Amino acid sequence: MARVKQAVFKFKPFSLKQKKILSWWLPESPVHDMDGIIADGAIRSGKTVSMALSFIFWAMESFQEENFAMCGKTIGSFRRNVLMVLKLMLRSRGYKFKDHRADNLLEVSRKGFTNYFYIFGGKDERSQDLIQGITLAGLFCDEVALMPESFVNQATGRCSVDGSKFWFNCNPAGPAHWFKLNWINVSTGYLSKEDIDKAISEGKELKNILYLHFTMDDNLSLSEKIKARYRSMYTGVFFKRYILGLWIAAEGIIYDLFCNSKEDFIIDKAPPIISAVIGIDFGGTGSAHSFTLTGFTPGMREVVVLDEYYHNNKEKGRLSPAELDAAFVDFAKRAKVKYKVHDVYCDSAEQTLIEGLTIAAAKARLGVEVKNAIKGPINDRIAFYNSLMAQGRFKILKHCKATISALENAVYSDKNPVKDERLDDGTTNIDSLDSMEYSTESVQDSILYLGMRG
Ligand SMILES: Nc1ncnc2c1ncn2[C@@H]1O[C@H](COP(=O)(O)OP(=O)(O)OP(=O)(O)O)[C@@H](O)[C@H]1O
Ligand SMILES: [Mg+2]
Repeated sequence: MARVKQAVFKFKPFSLKQKKILSWWLPESPVHDMDGIIADGAIRSGKTVSMALSFIFWAMESFQEENFAMCGKTIGSFRRNVLMVLKLMLRSRGYKFKDHRADNLLEVSRKGFTNYFYIFGGKDERSQDLIQGITLAGLFCDEVALMPESFVNQATGRCSVDGSKFWFNCNPAGPAHWFKLNWINVSTGYLSKEDIDKAISEGKELKNILYLHFTMDDNLSLSEKIKARYRSMYTGVFFKRYILGLWIAAEGIIYDLFCNSKEDFIIDKAPPIISAVIGIDFGGTGSAHSFTLTGFTPGMREVVVLDEYYHNNKEKGRLSPAELDAAFVDFAKRAKVKYKVHDVYCDSAEQTLIEGLTIAAAKARLGVEVKNAIKGPINDRIAFYNSLMAQGRFKILKHCKATISALENAVYSDKNPVKDERLDDGTTNIDSLDSMEYSTESVQDSILYLGMRG
């Protein structure tokens, strides 16, 4: 009978920075008595892999029968992004472990003793409740900048066992982000000697934490070709954060690449399209109804804005529900003449209007399914379109004037330095961007990472 082959982790040589993560806590290391470690920087730079492994090694070398917390943005994302690979690595290194999935507990055993690694999600409410009742000998937060500060404070507050340490990694966000201000900027490992003296004289409370900055060159498992591909995926503020690994503010123009070279994106004639989707944003008295028809070329290589409908209620008067239904049926029919269209994604805040469109679509036998848009984080949608543009995979037909102008005029708000906020005060056309983004949200990740992972 053929034996089932168990997956193994194929280790490549660790880079110098990864080796630092793996060894900083060893007794012979000059920084072993520090209270923790922060690794920030570029995407795919090898932070998570080395930190997760080192965290377990450290815990197993330093403690017996203790509890530890391992946290991701959500429990689900932690399992996907960290635990799957970690288990492979532990197996390759001969560790024994048991994953109690229902309890989100990983038991790791060695030489007759066990340590208990509880998995938490910084954004999961239940995790926030559960972590309050536990005593920890160590805390590992993967993607810490995506967690609420309150969760991290709660978790660090539970680390009361002697010798406990904090382990953090993340990609950068804005310069006023809580993790940058309250952790990195006051870490002794980040500050120069003069900065430390200055901070002390100013009465600042410093944290005795090691700081390491990663770039993709710190991951020796990436080929030059793959690194070049990742670099080509980002532009503007995203390039600075995700590739250079800098804590840079998102300010000014959002789609700078589009503004600087419109001729690269605006086309007269649609390329061959395999399928298309419709996105819909409903307008109130002060805003606009916007429909976007987005098409995909074979292999989802290009994302093309093919058609738009834009009705500004403020300027042209508010549409009745019947008029809105008629406009939609007309738009969908026009689309179906040329393209295969099945899905319509609508702003989920307007259930009555969605019901109206569903009935209108059925009556007109459009053969489309009217669904709620995901309405995920706006910044993820912005990053998606910026990345498509950087890769030359975004196109828009010349006649889609409202969307073109919306892309040209979109700017970040300077009101809240902590959050990257797209200005939405009625002075720019957000509606066309919303409907365009709703149309592609469900396939965003698979389109972006086409052929990149695995
Ligand atoms: N020493 C190594 N041997 C084999 N593969 C490695 C090694 N180091 C990193 N990798 C692989 O490189 C990829 C990126 O590593 P990792 O996920 O640790 O990066 P990251 O810095 O956490 O990225 P992100 O910021 O995107 O989360 C992963 O697929 C990982 O398995
Ligand atoms: Mg990571």
